[in-house]
Amino acid sequence: MGEKKDIVMDVIKTRRSIRRFEDRMIDDETIKKIVEMGTWAPSGLNNQPWSFVVIKDRDVKEKLSQQTKYAHIIRNAPVCIAVFLDKSRSYNRTKDVQAIGACIQNMLLTIHAMGLGAVWLGEILNRREEVEKILKVPKDFELMAVIALGYPAESPGRGSRRPLDDVLTFI
Ligand SMILES: Cc1cc2nc3c(=O)[nH]c(=O)nc-3n(C[C@H](O)[C@H](O)[C@H](O)COP(=O)(O)O)c2cc1C
Repeated sequence: MGEKKDIVMDVIKTRRSIRRFEDRMIDDETIKKIVEMGTWAPSGLNNQPWSFVVIKDRDVKEKLSQQTKYAHIIRNAPVCIAVFLDKSRSYNRTKDVQAIGACIQNMLLTIHAMGLGAVWLGEILNRREEVEKILKVPKDFELMAVIALGYPAESPGRGSRRPLDDVLTFI
């Protein structure tokens, strides 16, 4: 078990946002595995309130990129995964949104463990309705994030976090 713990902590700690990608497609089986790992996240009452659209098509990706100031990241990424809250499955908005956050983190960690790279894009939510129109999703779907992913073309540093003492209290 010691080894498993070390692997999990290493994957968590060495994951960094990747914003530059090689010009190389990811195969569909790999994409499916990433999304499947997302769906193993916990959710309140196990309601699994998520839904996903995988975007590989260049024209759709270009339209998507025009909805964010991070256009260059989306254009450069071979694959984007749009993550939606399916409001028809929702029972408590706060908990559903938390479950989707856990789902996205599962995917980011899986991507990293596979030797791929990704970034969680949230700024695009400023144009949420435009994105929903471009992707022609049902009206119950609310965009939560876009994950841009691919083979990494940058090696990021170690990252930084606030010291534990600043964020942790024992009582
Ligand atoms: C909710 C959320 C929204 C984010 N939105 C963006 C974004 O729009 N563009 C971007 O480049 N990075 C975005 N990020 C990535 C963060 O900038 C990044 O996770 C943070 O700086 C820590 O760096 P690390 O992921 O390398 O540890 C977002 C992350 C989260 C969790």
